[in-house]
Amino acid sequence: MTSALITLPKAELHLHIEGTLEPELILELAARNGITLPFPTLGELREQYEFADLQSFLNLYYANMAVLVTAEDFADMTRAYLSRAKDSGVRHAEIMFDPQAHLFRGVELATAVTGIAEALASSEAEFGISTGLIAAFLRDAPEASALEVLEELLAMGAPIIGIGLDSAEVGNPPSKFVRLYKRARAAGLRLVAHAGEEGPASYVWDALDLLGAQRIDHGIRSVEDAVLVKRLAKEQIPLTVCPLSNVRLRAVDTLAAHPVVHMLATGLNVCINSDDPAYFGGYLGSNFQALVAEFDFDADTLATLAGNSIRSSFATPARKSELL
Ligand code: ADE
Ligand code: ZN
Repeated sequence: MTSALITLPKAELHLHIEGTLEPELILELAARNGITLPFPTLGELREQYEFADLQSFLNLYYANMAVLVTAEDFADMTRAYLSRAKDSGVRHAEIMFDPQAHLFRGVELATAVTGIAEALASSEAEFGISTGLIAAFLRDAPEASALEVLEELLAMGAPIIGIGLDSAEVGNPPSKFVRLYKRARAAGLRLVAHAGEEGPASYVWDALDLLGAQRIDHGIRSVEDAVLVKRLAKEQIPLTVCPLSNVRLRAVDTLAAHPVVHMLATGLNVCINSDDPAYFGGYLGSNFQALVAEFDFDADTLATLAGNSIRSSFATPARKSELL
């Protein structure tokens, strides 16, 4: 990444903290916690990082979470991300975590929350990155489970700024989670949702109209619906696009076929993100670099993408003006 691209202040708004677990850290945490992994060497583990679709990635992503046991593990993972994000010129990060994925394997909510929150608390001083934490709910689990976990997070005073919706998209439409989003809105939380990654454009409509989502994670299949594109452009709904993720999960055939150029040309509010950088070939800088290499984006386009990320964030107005 060029130094101009690094120093351009950027916000990362679509990042799963569990997706930043690098293979080396997986092995280190497995050893620390006495866990035997199905793929015990770096070589064997790395061989698994070839994905046919979202589900094949999710299978490995959830399996690798087994090494996260103590609050210290969560803190170490989060600090490792922040350090790498700093190298990409990230100045503000809104980080998702999957509370249910940890609960379902017997790790208490407080363990995950305490560890992540501890690392985030020192992020501005240590890395110059302001942060927000978003609890993402698993759309392939029942809504009742999400509601229960949200109540627990609220009761424990977890420092979350919002909720999201992730995991297996097709067959799990936003309409499943109307009550969850209503409850989160009533609690004063911000609302985001994955939609239009593998799922159809109708899921983007529903995330907006049924859930009240303020930001759409991915949203690339919106381009299949011209009426939706018009609306997204008119309302400047932020779309947190993740190019390397889309290539690695085969949501697009190639980077050259990625709709990001078309999305920008139609006036959509697009920003660039890394999603699960340990799995998809790189952090935010690598995503920008890949776009520059493929599409020869000029300085104005890069500035638009970086500016969109900051404007679309939930940072305070003071922090936004500092970064813009
Ligand atoms: N969880 C982690 N990464 C995800 C993605 N790209 N889509 C849906 N759920 C996810
Ligand atoms: Zn995602």
